[in-house]
Amino acid sequence: MEQLQRAIIERGSVLSDDVLKVDQFLNHQIDTNLMINIGREFVSRFQDSKITKVLTIESSGIAPSFMAANELDVPLVFARKKKSLTVTDYIYSSGVYSYTKQEMNNITVSKNYLSSDDHVLIIDDFLAHGNAALGLIDVVKQAGASVAGVGIVIEKSFQEGRKMLEREGHRVESLARIHSLEGSKVSFLEELATK
Ligand code: G4P
Repeated sequence: MEQLQRAIIERGSVLSDDVLKVDQFLNHQIDTNLMINIGREFVSRFQDSKITKVLTIESSGIAPSFMAANELDVPLVFARKKKSLTVTDYIYSSGVYSYTKQEMNNITVSKNYLSSDDHVLIIDDFLAHGNAALGLIDVVKQAGASVAGVGIVIEKSFQEGRKMLEREGHRVESLARIHSLEGSKVSFLEELATK
């Protein structure tokens, strides 16, 4: 997705060989026009699936997921990382380890918002090691629902997330696929393919 690649190049910054900072449009300040187009792109990529719900994880997954769910005209559910005061016992939960932050989060979703009738599109901002997506897939399975696929805004293709998801038979659609961040330079898989 060209608009996204341009945003990454022009407004992102490389913090290290494996971390890209995109606070300017995705992780802190949000570019709403870009999010609208990201939502449309997800919908066009999954148009052959009869999606009934979009599932993401707080907090940075919410903006792109909101736009996709709105385009699809289905509800958006976000998994919580912190215990909620109001959502207590009636929950699905899964342990998600964050390599980046080196912490364990127990993600939870109320049983009221996912059921065995649902065909779920999972969306997240980053795909790194795949743990967040695998945790969300686990929650979908606990509900007896099915996974339509995983939509990712920025995939770090040099980490093993995609492989982990595809190994379990899941379809992964990433709008930007980063081949490398080495030397403080972002290089995309798509541009390598056209060279
Ligand atoms: P994984 O979920 O694919 O296994 O990845 P990992 O454990 O490495 O990522 C944990 C958190 O760090 C996630 O955010 C993920 O989106 C974010 N992250 C991973 N790599 C990068 C990167 O290169 N740049 C940025 N900006 N973020 C990255 P989170 O903890 O869920 O945070 P948030 O959604 O509350 O912002």
